[in-house]
Amino acid sequence: MVKDNIIITSALPYANGEIHLGHIVSTYLPADILARFYRSIGKNVVFTCASDDFGTPILLQSEKQNKTPEEYVKYWKERDLKDFTDLGILFDDFRNTSSKENIKLTQYFFNQIYNNDLIYRKEINQLYCNTDDKYLPDRYVLGTCPYCKEDNQYSDGCEKCGRAFNHSEILKPICAICKNEPVMKTSAHYFFKLSALSDKLKTWLNNNDNLQKDVKNYVIRWIEDGLNDWDITRDISWGVNIPLEEAEGKVLYGWFDNHICYISTTIEHLNSKGINGKEFWNDSTIYHYIGKDIVYHHYLFLTAMRLAINEEYKLPDFIPTRGHLMLQGEKFSKSRGMYIGLRDFLSDFPADYLRYYLTRITPYDQSDVNFDWDDFQVKINNELVASIGNFIHRVLSFTNSKYNGIIPEPKELDNDDNELIELIQESKNKVMENIENNHIDRAMKNILDLSDGCNRYFQKKEPWKGNSENTIYISMNAVQSLGILLNPFMPHSIDKLFNTMNIEKKKINWENCGELKIEANHKINDAKILFEKIENKAINEQKQKLK
Ligand code: 2FM
Ligand code: ZN
Repeated sequence: MVKDNIIITSALPYANGEIHLGHIVSTYLPADILARFYRSIGKNVVFTCASDDFGTPILLQSEKQNKTPEEYVKYWKERDLKDFTDLGILFDDFRNTSSKENIKLTQYFFNQIYNNDLIYRKEINQLYCNTDDKYLPDRYVLGTCPYCKEDNQYSDGCEKCGRAFNHSEILKPICAICKNEPVMKTSAHYFFKLSALSDKLKTWLNNNDNLQKDVKNYVIRWIEDGLNDWDITRDISWGVNIPLEEAEGKVLYGWFDNHICYISTTIEHLNSKGINGKEFWNDSTIYHYIGKDIVYHHYLFLTAMRLAINEEYKLPDFIPTRGHLMLQGEKFSKSRGMYIGLRDFLSDFPADYLRYYLTRITPYDQSDVNFDWDDFQVKINNELVASIGNFIHRVLSFTNSKYNGIIPEPKELDNDDNELIELIQESKNKVMENIENNHIDRAMKNILDLSDGCNRYFQKKEPWKGNSENTIYISMNAVQSLGILLNPFMPHSIDKLFNTMNIEKKKINWENCGELKIEANHKINDAKILFEKIENKAINEQKQKLK
């Protein structure tokens, strides 16, 4: 059972490039749908995110553009937030990992973990580039994965096998700036004793039934193979300062502070509303939405850090993890031209088309999701337009033409009328259960089945032959119910629909689905087409843009 307080976070986008469809599929859309759903059933929802500001790639890029890192991340934060808003990803708050509050909470975590003897200092050999005259952490080094031997990997982890590792482990390293071979130099670093928390992590994983079994199993295997302690220091200037005198000039690795921003953003947001944020955090059901490339960081680093300070901040209940996005059956990749940026997409199609399609094709598991332009056209035209949009439009336009927009007084309901009401109520329960279990694709299929049922009802009743009072009265209520069910998925369209129906969205909640809330004599506005077909030309143009 979920609590009344719900905290939902989506993995923080690096302030280092635009949001693309790959980000949306696993991390932002499923989280937004859940947040909208829980709001509609009256839960206290806080849905937060932030821009992930620190780290070597961002420093590297800002240097290339002759900007300060602060200027650089400010640009991307604003840009990302605008794109999210246009897609209808409605965060309650969106802050920065480089905010004062996050730095403060990160240093607090460091101090507590340090005092609990779970951080130690060690001199290590660091890769250093004599040409560029700097230490080379993470993305400053390319080499071969020590585990699966994949070439061309950054020194903090492997994209192929998903392992995170320490930079000195990478094989055949070269400097990412000048491509020369680096040398080794000693430097004092701080290590988090991840290994010491192995048993606690395993117990936590085993006891948490909300986590996806397959992910849990491979994380447990990583633990059983033996965890390495984690180097949390970087010899660069852009990061959270390590709060120890002896560590002056060194900063924390971005993965030490970024997930703390889930906590700092949520708590600051609640505090600003006069609610005790920390109490709320500890008395809520917590979801962290991620893509499968950052399982290691969320199932191990994040949880271990909260365990290391005696769970002063509650651990997550759910870490919904989904696969990567493919495009036309190929790897999604900007450099190879197999890529769709969110802003580009939204300049050509309505936001809700993307929300609909991605919801339909994204299961709740690790499998990769294929965005296919032909399939997109089929699903929009044959499902969204031909079933959902068709029923809505028929009902609204019939009401306008036959009844001047005024809902007629029904007579005694017959079997067909009652069966449709039952179907709506059954569908509502299925949709709810599927959303609560993170199966948004199945929930959308339930809605589609319901709209097929509504179309069958309308067709069978043949209102155009007369005696249409009940049909219109029941159908109009069915449209409202469909609107309620669709709202978490397609909020822009449902705003328009409810405007046309002359009903105030904020007066309607999930419970009203299946009720006969729209009464006789209610007047609707002129019907407008909600969903338009996508022509072949538009799809061909998109295909041309690839590669
Ligand atoms: O992989 C990424 O894109 C990271 N910026 C995600 C960070 S999530 C975190 F804050 F836990
Ligand atoms: Zn590897």
